Amino acid sequence: MAQTFDVVVIGAGPGGYIAAIRAAQLGYKVACIDEWVGPAGGPAPGGTCTNVGCIPSKALLQSSEHFEHARLHFSEHGISTGSVKIDVAKMVARKDAVVKQNNDGILYLFKKNKVTFFHGRGSFVRAVEGGYEIAVSGAQADMLLGRHIVVATGSRARALPGVAFDEDKILSNVGALRLTSVPKKLAIIGAGVIGLEMGSVWRRLGAEVTILEGLPTFLAAADEQIAKEAKKAFDKQGLKIELGVKVGEVKTSRKGVSIAYTTASGEAATLDADRLIVSIGRVPNTEGLGADKVGLQLDERGAIVVDEQCRTNLPGVWAVGDVVRGPMLAHKAEEEGVAVAERIAGQHPHVDFNTIPWVIYTSPEVAWVGATEQQLKAAGRAYKAGTFPFLANGRARALGDTTGMIKILADAATDQILGVHMVGPMVSELIAEAVVAMEFKASAEDIARICHAHPSLSEATKEAALAVDKRTLNF
Ligand code: FAD
Ligand code: NAI
Repeated sequence: MAQTFDVVVIGAGPGGYIAAIRAAQLGYKVACIDEWVGPAGGPAPGGTCTNVGCIPSKALLQSSEHFEHARLHFSEHGISTGSVKIDVAKMVARKDAVVKQNNDGILYLFKKNKVTFFHGRGSFVRAVEGGYEIAVSGAQADMLLGRHIVVATGSRARALPGVAFDEDKILSNVGALRLTSVPKKLAIIGAGVIGLEMGSVWRRLGAEVTILEGLPTFLAAADEQIAKEAKKAFDKQGLKIELGVKVGEVKTSRKGVSIAYTTASGEAATLDADRLIVSIGRVPNTEGLGADKVGLQLDERGAIVVDEQCRTNLPGVWAVGDVVRGPMLAHKAEEEGVAVAERIAGQHPHVDFNTIPWVIYTSPEVAWVGATEQQLKAAGRAYKAGTFPFLANGRARALGDTTGMIKILADAATDQILGVHMVGPMVSELIAEAVVAMEFKASAEDIARICHAHPSLSEATKEAALAVDKRTLNF
């Protein structure tokens, strides 16, 4: 006899676990199924983000940044440390502990909100009157009946055609986050978000890192001016990025990996490395979900087809996060999870894709929200631009990190903010002000007239807003 729930969520990543909690808050009887197995063999809810994504990558970025600061920048402050060493095993153990805190936190939240958690794989069995039967296989085999189903099964790394991940020499994000020693030479294919973040970690720890990127433009999704500034900083750090390449055969041997490729100018080249990270995007997880059993519509990439409200082609079946269209970001998945739970309850939430922030946690950090200058030009929109460099910001000077700038784009006639682009220290935090401003349809003048604490990095945002009207005070 199946256990009956109002809402059954498949997947406990940021999309799924947040949808489950919100549905429970709204008074529903909720189950959440997740198959992730932690290092000790038990459940490890949190999905890619918690286990092999956002959280462990930020833990390693933090450790490696401390190491680089101690090695290169402490002396500027008059601090001498002697020779600085890194214990990679300890760094990785700390990262694992941070991940476990997050896994445990989600299990606690399930308990607190009375969400019933099932550790195992969930798949559609059939549609029945009043809902869908979902089988749970694995540690906790069971049969559930859900009136509403939320699919939040996430994504996994895309492999190069014919080059499978072995997580030893050829690494996806999973292997890249559990290296136990610093490779002497590290090759990366794909200069996207993962390539830049993981490349930064291992470069800071001493690896010679080369990133091969297929596109001729660096960070094509970002504002061109910001991407150029970021590239300059990465070049200076010794992160080697080759653009416009065509990757050919990849061979592994006991010694390492050899990648044949054609350079942008058409020359044949080979890159030899100890390890290779392939970070060329991700594919949605819909295999083994039983989509065919109920006629759930998938697109040609295997993603679940949804409308703007995350409704699938089946009544009562919803899908959120990486398994559907849109940016593959944890906060986008969370917002969709909340919205679906509220729609089930008859509410009318709204997720605005135009105000979803992007952040790359390198040093300098890169962050943006809204339209880029090249998008506005292509759309023929009349705009004004204001920029302010961190070089002229007192707090940045005190921090010893004056790389980068903030740029605000506003409508030429109404002054409404259309996009905000940042490269520099802590811009992952500064971007939140821009998101709030855009959500509230603020003008650049609104930000220019708001009192910002001194000395703070956020004054650079105010100054960029003043720059839109050509009246910066400190530059
Ligand atoms: P996921 O987090 O992938 O969770 C899906 C869960 O469902 C997994 O636990 C999976 O095991 C489980 N599952 C799948 N199929 C089944 C099934 N049939 N039955 C039961 N369980 C199943 N995003 C950011 O916003 N900020 C970042 O800093 C960031 N850093 C990242 C760093 C890396 C290295 C990577 C790889 C990704 C990063 N991302 C980041 C992206 C982010 O991780 C994803 O966008 C986010 O995890 C998507 O959430 P989700 O809930 O859709 O899916
Ligand atoms: P990505 O889409 O960010 O970057 C992939 C890069 O690989 C692109 O620049 C693309 O042009 C290049 N590429 C694709 N095929 C190639 C080939 N055959 N040869 C050479 N280059 C090739 O994907 P990535 O880095 O794998 O990350 C996946 C997703 O995870 C991101 O899109 C992002 O949504 C999410 N993520 C978010 C983070 C954050 O928010 N800070 C951190 C890490 C990941």
